Amino acid sequence: MAEAETLERPEEAKPVGPFEVSDELRPRIDEFDLWDVIASLREHGYGVIRQAGPPSLWDDLREAIHTLSTPTEDASATGIVGSAPLLLGRHPAIDRIATLPKVMAIAEFSCGKAMRGGRFVGSIKHQFKGEGDGALGLHADQNWMPVPFPEHNLVMTFCFACEGMTHAGGATCVVPGSHRLRRPPTAKDLETAEPVAIETEKGDVAVWDGAVWHGSLPRKIPGTRTVLHATYQRLYTQPIDDFTYLLKDEAYMASAPEGMRQLLGAELFFHTATPENDVDMKKFMYAAAAAKL
Ligand SMILES: [Fe+2]
Repeated sequence: MAEAETLERPEEAKPVGPFEVSDELRPRIDEFDLWDVIASLREHGYGVIRQAGPPSLWDDLREAIHTLSTPTEDASATGIVGSAPLLLGRHPAIDRIATLPKVMAIAEFSCGKAMRGGRFVGSIKHQFKGEGDGALGLHADQNWMPVPFPEHNLVMTFCFACEGMTHAGGATCVVPGSHRLRRPPTAKDLETAEPVAIETEKGDVAVWDGAVWHGSLPRKIPGTRTVLHATYQRLYTQPIDDFTYLLKDEAYMASAPEGMRQLLGAELFFHTATPENDVDMKKFMYAAAAAKL
């Protein structure tokens, strides 16, 4: 990410409105051919980045999640048999996939230049054989925010499905356009909403914003659905997971992928004051400018 001293001062930065692309980000959206994803996020609240990275990386991710996961206590409600929380910094494949340039560009588009990593959790889902419908109910991911949600999106979730994702295989489902209501679904909404499945291939990434209503379908076929849910957040929201301990690990940071300092908020002013020195003003000025982009 840009060092603090290289960014325009806040009074010189041209503020970016909701769903707009900054002049600084535009060349990357062109280079990575992401305008269709941005159009879908604006219109529907979700999208799919096709071939966001080499498919072999999704195989490595699958191995990482299966290695790091622990069995869930009760798989009967959803068919999720294993889970692996707090994944950033624990496996090279996860760090690499979390910092893929196309992913970082879309996270920046939706959550701003100073976005950070929020939550990185893997899950393993098998065929649903329990009672009930086995679905994960519709919700908005930024559900701990006040309503109406701000026009600027606060939380963005990327879903990396290691085996791809199909309707019968237990795909994420979404209610297109529901992000415009800027609130979570009500009980009545749950009765009338008509979600659609997001289908992906290995190498694709499904992505949705913090306001759109979505859930997960039950897996109705044999085999395994292995996914990483990676959450990115706007500067002023509190990250769900605390990965800041990684910043203190010099050996780790020396070999971490480009982009990790961004996800860990290394250039931000939070928690920089000490009994001897107040907040790092260079970092504060960086944040004041980056928050508007
Ligand atoms: Fe969700």
